[in-house]
Amino acid sequence: MGRLDEKVAIVTGGCSGLGRAIAEQFIDDGAMVCVVDRSQERLDAMKAQLGEKSLFIQADVSLVKDNLRMVEEVIHSFGKIDIFVGNAGIYDGNKGINELTVEQIDRGFDELFHVNVKGYMLGAKVVIPELLKTKGCMIFSGSHASFYSAGGGPLYTASKHAVAGLIKELAYELAPTIRVNGVAPGVIGTTMGMPKSVGEDVPSIISGVEQSLPLPFIPKPEDYADLYVLLASESAKTMTGTIIQADNGIGIRGLVKPSGSL
Ligand SMILES: NC(=O)c1ccc[n+]([C@@H]2O[C@H](COP(=O)([O-])OP(=O)(O)OC[C@H]3O[C@@H](n4cnc5c(N)ncnc54)[C@H](O)[C@@H]3O)[C@@H](O)[C@H]2O)c1
Repeated sequence: MGRLDEKVAIVTGGCSGLGRAIAEQFIDDGAMVCVVDRSQERLDAMKAQLGEKSLFIQADVSLVKDNLRMVEEVIHSFGKIDIFVGNAGIYDGNKGINELTVEQIDRGFDELFHVNVKGYMLGAKVVIPELLKTKGCMIFSGSHASFYSAGGGPLYTASKHAVAGLIKELAYELAPTIRVNGVAPGVIGTTMGMPKSVGEDVPSIISGVEQSLPLPFIPKPEDYADLYVLLASESAKTMTGTIIQADNGIGIRGLVKPSGSL
């Protein structure tokens, strides 16, 4: 028996990195998964590997019409929605305020917040009627940048702090019927997309960063997938408004390595 048997899940940004790992783990655990992504090329590649069992929807999460169509297509194919995972996100290349021009901040803010914050909020809004019927749940991908500085530049860090606020507000407003939680990963070995106005794609990990982590390794996307299964399952029935900080201990690293540590 899978932990998510009979459940219907939507995963945005589900064709790459963390989203793909979540989608594949959900499928392994018995869920019917609707993979939503902006990239038709990535959708086609994933469909070729996973076959017809899942639904693949090309959509830009920052657009109202695409979000409405997403719900229509999922209901048409599966008849219900139990789990909404808001995950599609873009990065700012770790560019500090002194490296950005005022024009890059102006345009980069709109591009990045439209995906990272508005995309989550629109997705949440359009799935609420369906999740009320199934007593479902929402899970959002935050980041260590939802809590701390230096996980990106000001554009990314502010957007991910906004995600933490969104999770708490939605959890408060949608209780007791819909649970709303998040996962705040640390570093992941992926190359995240970037707003065109800020620059080209860059690796989102800084070389050698693992040496500063209390748990000194760079996790793979699949290392986080079980946390999403936990939050989506009955095992998390007491949890709402929670953000699981799965960040190799970034928050407790302190100034120096304790003497006598291993
Ligand atoms: N990579 C990291 O180090 C890291 C760390 C912490 C948190 N996160 C978070 O994890 C999530 C996924 O990141 P990732 O590293 O897997 O990135 P990724 O770039 O590998 O995957 C993101 C996917 O989202 C899609 N996407 C981007 N914009 C979209 C849009 N407007 N509409 C629909 N789809 C869109 C992309 O096509 C891509 O397939 C993000 O929310 C990110 O902030 C990443």
